[in-house]
Amino acid sequence: MNTKEILVTKEEQERQEQYTELVRELPHRPQSYYVVTYGCQMNAHDSEKIAGMLDRMGMKPAEERETADFVIFNTCCVRENAERRALGNVTWLKEVRKTKPDMIIAVCGCMIQEPGMAETILKQYRFVDLAFGTANLHKLPEMMYETLNSGIQQVCVEDKDVIAEGLPVRRLRQDAAYLTIMYGCNNFCSFCIVPYVRGRERSREMSSILHEAEALAQSGVKEIMLLGQNVNSYGKGLPGNPTFASLLKQLDEIGIPRIRFMTSHPKDLSDELIDVMSCGKHILPQFHLPVQSGNNEILEKMNRHYTREQYLDRVRKLREAIPGIGLSTDIIVSFPGETEAQFEDTMSLVQEVRYDSAFTFIYSPRKGTKAAKMEDLIPEEVSRERIQRLIALQEELQQDTLKRFIGSEEEILVEGLSRRSKTAVSGKGRHAISITVNGSEEDIGQILKCRVTGLKNNTLTGERV
Ligand code: SAH
Ligand code: SF4
Ligand code: F3S
Repeated sequence: MNTKEILVTKEEQERQEQYTELVRELPHRPQSYYVVTYGCQMNAHDSEKIAGMLDRMGMKPAEERETADFVIFNTCCVRENAERRALGNVTWLKEVRKTKPDMIIAVCGCMIQEPGMAETILKQYRFVDLAFGTANLHKLPEMMYETLNSGIQQVCVEDKDVIAEGLPVRRLRQDAAYLTIMYGCNNFCSFCIVPYVRGRERSREMSSILHEAEALAQSGVKEIMLLGQNVNSYGKGLPGNPTFASLLKQLDEIGIPRIRFMTSHPKDLSDELIDVMSCGKHILPQFHLPVQSGNNEILEKMNRHYTREQYLDRVRKLREAIPGIGLSTDIIVSFPGETEAQFEDTMSLVQEVRYDSAFTFIYSPRKGTKAAKMEDLIPEEVSRERIQRLIALQEELQQDTLKRFIGSEEEILVEGLSRRSKTAVSGKGRHAISITVNGSEEDIGQILKCRVTGLKNNTLTGERV
């Protein structure tokens, strides 16, 4: 796909800027807003853009959603429980609005892009004032103006495959920033709804990304997290087909102290990327590499395009090139038809790799995906039992893998005060593992050197040096 064809045009940007002004001038516009975010980092970053746009419309963030004039639910639908939680909350807010009748409610994000969802919202959730999809964020000023002006419910789920550059951002953290390098996904893993709700894969121009990174560096950001559903396939369709590795290399030159990225698909993890990582100055020694299953038949049914052996080869290569690298993964248990023996293959893979952390999920059928049509669903009791076994194994192994850090020096970017003590702070080390050290509020946003001294409940503790 050619970027020029999918970029939101200058004219459209100007139109939205005009609407921003119009909303600012409306006497009855909301004064405060609250964004409720579900789902992954993509959604978290979209919420930062929504907040940025609302700031420009003259609104201020509210302390809590009950008191806000405008509440936005940025939803996720990757698993059924994510969706249920989001819808449950919207319904709850309907009650709140009875005592605050002027409150305006918006629902956006991935769930809105599900087939039929927009119609459901129109019919069943009449109290929702605004609903817009993942690729319509930039139209928020226009939709806001129309709702305020006409009082008519606004629903916008068109144009799935666009890139909107230059949206304002209100960042959650001053010291760390998200930076989207690509949107959408073309992989169609058979269980996954993301390609349907986030549209086709499209990469941002390298120059736009580098520009944004330079601006972030100048504003004093200490860490950037590059975002994409499959960052390893960055660049396809751009002139000259630049690779993710080449982008990473250039970003490394800018001098931001810490660079991270997610997510990587094992099938596209190139040797070139491993080289760039091992030679990089600021690329953190960590990798999130979702495996999903340790069994080849299941991997094939999942449409993952790699085998257990190929996956293990990538892990070996990463560890050879970057000794001590922090590894994490995502795993799905109870994919349709998964036998006990096939599940045991996942257990043995986890044994073999020894991850620093793993996100584990019970398979959740998603309407419209290929797997949703598959038979042999695994009974819930079996799934529960499997995931518990997997979590227990991971926790046991993690105790052991994390011990390798004890006695070593690390650097943490302090995220906040520790939950357990007022004289301690915590943040992620270079290997993306949380470490708690002695400190105070003043340390938040700083990079601290520390020595790791212990391990408590799967978190590392240390002392600053
Ligand atoms: N693009 C990323 C992440 C996608 S969603 C990637 O490819 O890794 C994050 C995780 O949710 C996935 O890695 C998968 O483990 C899990 N997931 C996605 N769809 C799911 C489903 N239908 N049921 C259970 N888990 C699912
Ligand atoms: Fe979903 Fe697979 Fe794309 Fe990840 S790579 S978003 S799991 S389809
Ligand atoms: Fe959820 Fe959408 Fe992310 S479905 S996991 S918020 S891309």
